[in-house]
Amino acid sequence: MKCAGSIETILITGANGLLGQKLCGHFSSSYKVIATDLHPENFVSFPNLSYENFDLTDGRALEFHVRFYNPEVILNAAAYTDVDGCEINRDQAWAVNVGGVRNLVGVCREHKIKLVHLSTDYIFDGEKGPYSEDDLPHPVSFYGKTKLESENVIKQSEIDFLIVRTNVLYGFGKKVKKNFLLWLIEKLSAGVKLEIVNDQLNNPTLADNLSECILEMVQKDMSGMFHIGGAEYLSRYDFALKVADKFEFDKANISATKTEFLNQKAKRPSRGGLKTEKAQKALQTKLLNIEEGLDQAKQSQKEKEIL
Ligand SMILES: NC(=O)c1ccc[n+]([C@@H]2O[C@H](COP(=O)([O-])OP(=O)(O)OC[C@H]3O[C@@H](n4cnc5c(N)ncnc54)[C@H](OP(=O)(O)O)[C@@H]3O)[C@@H](O)[C@H]2O)c1
Repeated sequence: MKCAGSIETILITGANGLLGQKLCGHFSSSYKVIATDLHPENFVSFPNLSYENFDLTDGRALEFHVRFYNPEVILNAAAYTDVDGCEINRDQAWAVNVGGVRNLVGVCREHKIKLVHLSTDYIFDGEKGPYSEDDLPHPVSFYGKTKLESENVIKQSEIDFLIVRTNVLYGFGKKVKKNFLLWLIEKLSAGVKLEIVNDQLNNPTLADNLSECILEMVQKDMSGMFHIGGAEYLSRYDFALKVADKFEFDKANISATKTEFLNQKAKRPSRGGLKTEKAQKALQTKLLNIEEGLDQAKQSQKEKEIL
């Protein structure tokens, strides 16, 4: 097995996604980064970073790029992340979230590469969150099922792995899909009246903060299962009020509702979220509360003039 001190090259999948963009930024300051995603172009560029586009479900394309670049670590931030879409497009969701991970495990086994994989609190049913690494998974959505299966494929593979479960990622990025923060800002800035659920609880996670944690974990050559999430457990409604406060929108436009009135295709865990004590003990990187996370997000928005 290649050890952390000898890492030169990191391959990142899903590099155009929210977390992928942050990982590209953090890792390219210490390593040569091969950023990969579906799109012909990369959305963010950094010195020390090259970009390749291929579909993770195409095992031969993955093998080709791994042989060519010879990475010591693969960070898998690619996934079919549309939770409601997963209920409808089940074959595609399974192909990417499980088949893609099988392909990654194959090349990691063959070339003795460490795999760092992202998973989610949606592998739990939300009956009694927040959850620790030792709690029993029981997904209530197809997305959750695919992500749990991806974990199992990795755990059964005997490769060196790190699985990081996280929840409700938020932050700014170039051309990223609307995460909860971006969606709120778009609606509130247009003066739209919003009904937000107060019965879905979790600990929202600034994508930049998660990415910093993953950098530290890779540098420390950590393996196994870790939960990383923000330092504050609250409802979506309370999170929305804090966003309105921080970005100076009218809080009167936000009212509380219940999940049963939303008609979402996929069932959501109600008391979701993650206990993070294991990661906090092992890491120097501080997990941010909402106030700190939103401050940092606002700062990055200003610096990069995004949205
Ligand atoms: N977002 C959250 O709240 C959250 C919570 C818990 C866990 N996670 C996990 O964290 C990870 C990163 O999430 P994220 O929010 O950064 O995701 P994201 O913004 O949706 O980015 C995922 C990226 O993967 C790409 N991708 C999709 N299918 C692919 C394929 N077949 N081959 C190669 N690339 C493909 C996507 O391209 P397209 O956009 O073109 O599809 C996208 O650029 C995922 O594993 C997710 O399950 C996310």
